[in-house]
Amino acid sequence: MISQAVLGLGGVGKSELALQYAHRHRAEYRLVWWIDADDPEQIRSGLAALARALACGIDSVAAEQATAQEAAAWALSWLATHPGWLVIFDNVEEVSYVEPYLARLAHGRVLITTRRDIGWHHLNITSIRLELLTRPAAIALLADLIGPPDSADIHALEDLAEQLGDLPLALTQASAYIARTPRMSLTKYLDLVKTIPARMYAAAPPASDAERVVAKVWSLSHARIQAINPLASHVLNVLACFAPDNLPCAVLTGLHDADELQVD
Ligand SMILES: Nc1ncnc2c1ncn2[C@@H]1O[C@H](COP(=O)(O)OP(=O)(O)O)[C@@H](O)[C@H]1O
Ligand SMILES: [Mg+2]
Repeated sequence: MISQAVLGLGGVGKSELALQYAHRHRAEYRLVWWIDADDPEQIRSGLAALARALACGIDSVAAEQATAQEAAAWALSWLATHPGWLVIFDNVEEVSYVEPYLARLAHGRVLITTRRDIGWHHLNITSIRLELLTRPAAIALLADLIGPPDSADIHALEDLAEQLGDLPLALTQASAYIARTPRMSLTKYLDLVKTIPARMYAAAPPASDAERVVAKVWSLSHARIQAINPLASHVLNVLACFAPDNLPCAVLTGLHDADELQVD
């Protein structure tokens, strides 16, 4: 089994990377299947959809009538007995969501994207961390989406890439906003993002998928951290006040009724 997990922040480009990989290598696989893996229910219905796609001719009636559970089991049997496929589990929230399936997925390749960075190793899954874009790549992406800059604008592009932390999601959101909003220029957007960052990170470009704006993705990640470990969320809030400066550890050990071991 070759299984690989791509780890990283929301919006850093994990799904895009998986998509590009699948696209470029599709000729090497007899089957490529994408499964949204945010929760166990979605995984099951992704597998069920695979069963329906695989079942043609005489099997199709049975496949239509099967429950999601039955169809998913059928898809797993198919995957367990056929080589040469690629299955992508996109945005796996918890390692445990895919763990039950992995043993049956030994005949092909599994590609996982996830924000979770622990727990993969013991499942024999190699993980790679996807980092932010380099500054030149971030500038090139902005220029590509907004349109080629005149020489005066090149500094504004650089400034904007820095403001947006070279995060692909932020770069694509800002570019789409500038390109699609009447009377919005690069310099005006840059001004706005410096003066009212929270509003600009929450502002969806016209005709966009409003779920994919920076503020939304951030608040989902934040809510998730809060649900898993409220102390981690508290530590994060404190650190955010000082970021990106270095901070003595003692600042954190003083947090209200937190035990030091947990803070560590
Ligand atoms: N290397 C890249 N070049 C251009 N655009 C990118 C790149 N990586 C990501 N994007 C774009 O940035 C946005 C966020 O990427 P996405 O893959 O959805 O992030 P993630 O899955 O890590 O949350 C998407 O619109 C995507 O198309
Ligand atoms: Mg994604």
